[in-house]
Amino acid sequence: MRLGVLTGGGDCPGLNAVIRAVVRRAVNTHGDAVVGFLDAWDGVLERRTIELDVTKMRGMLPRGGTILGTRRGSPYDHDDGPRRARESLEALGVEALVVIGGNGSLTVASRLHDEQGIKVVGVPKTIDNDIVGTDVCFGFHTAVQIATDAIDRLHTTAESHDRVIVVEVMGRDTGWIATYAGIAGGATAILIPERPFDIDGIAAAVTSRHRRGRFASIVVVAEGARPREGTLPALDYDLDPQGRPRLGGVSAVVARALEQRVGIETRVVQIGHVQRGGTPNAYDRVLSTRLGVAAVDALHDGVFDSMVGLRNPGIIRVPLSEVTGRTRTVDLSIYDDVASVFFG
Ligand code: F6P
Repeated sequence: MRLGVLTGGGDCPGLNAVIRAVVRRAVNTHGDAVVGFLDAWDGVLERRTIELDVTKMRGMLPRGGTILGTRRGSPYDHDDGPRRARESLEALGVEALVVIGGNGSLTVASRLHDEQGIKVVGVPKTIDNDIVGTDVCFGFHTAVQIATDAIDRLHTTAESHDRVIVVEVMGRDTGWIATYAGIAGGATAILIPERPFDIDGIAAAVTSRHRRGRFASIVVVAEGARPREGTLPALDYDLDPQGRPRLGGVSAVVARALEQRVGIETRVVQIGHVQRGGTPNAYDRVLSTRLGVAAVDALHDGVFDSMVGLRNPGIIRVPLSEVTGRTRTVDLSIYDDVASVFFG
């Protein structure tokens, strides 16, 4: 078989580890040839490719980013894009495609399967960890570790100055990173999109903590967190080229409001893209490898229009129709029954 592979959406630690596993499994087990499409769907439409073999995969396991490049656009941004995508694959002799991406890329893959007959298998990727059909997405645990390391460091400087530090982490629609890094880092409060926050309640918790003689507070906020209606002015964001709000900055609003209410000097730290950069941790290297191997096997078994995911302890195949258009929100039993025990 001649397989194609592409990486779409925001990058994520572990992408190269998945590509490596796809190539290894395809070439060594099935005798396939593998072609990589550059810059996601752009590479499909413009027929920009590289041949991938086992030798080219040397050093890929720990390498951050994606050697293929990634973009957020899709064939559906162009009038004749979907047809051109099919024609490109036919012209290049690519019989099936492994799409490593988030909700957007997986939705495109499923439509191309249904409308153009392109054989696809998806691999769930996002540090936000919000894809349905898998217990966890690769890259998430690395991002949590990076955020936790940052919070650990912030504790000591916050304590030295008796300050409040508001730490903003990624999490557009869900607060997975905030919840996990907040628990792991001993946060005083964790603000997530799933639970619009009450700034007065957080201020009261911080005040009472400082009255009890505890020095410093770390408040972790997911970039997509929103204030409860009527409590703070609504946040206004510019749009990115895909028309999505370019998030970032909620921490500054929270910090200002807290400082006014609590009267303790407050600082802001946005961890930003550091969370997505660099080497995947051991857990994500293993998960990426398992998913890459499983994706190739699913293609060979003819299980198209599906995604491979982790359902502990095994790898499962889920129809893309059960994955796309949905968001896997934070397990609120973790937030309400565990994280909140340590608030204040
Ligand atoms: O990949 C998802 C994500 O990390 C979101 O949490 C974040 O809002 C977005 O990517 C930002 O990505 P970029 O700055 O690359 O558009």
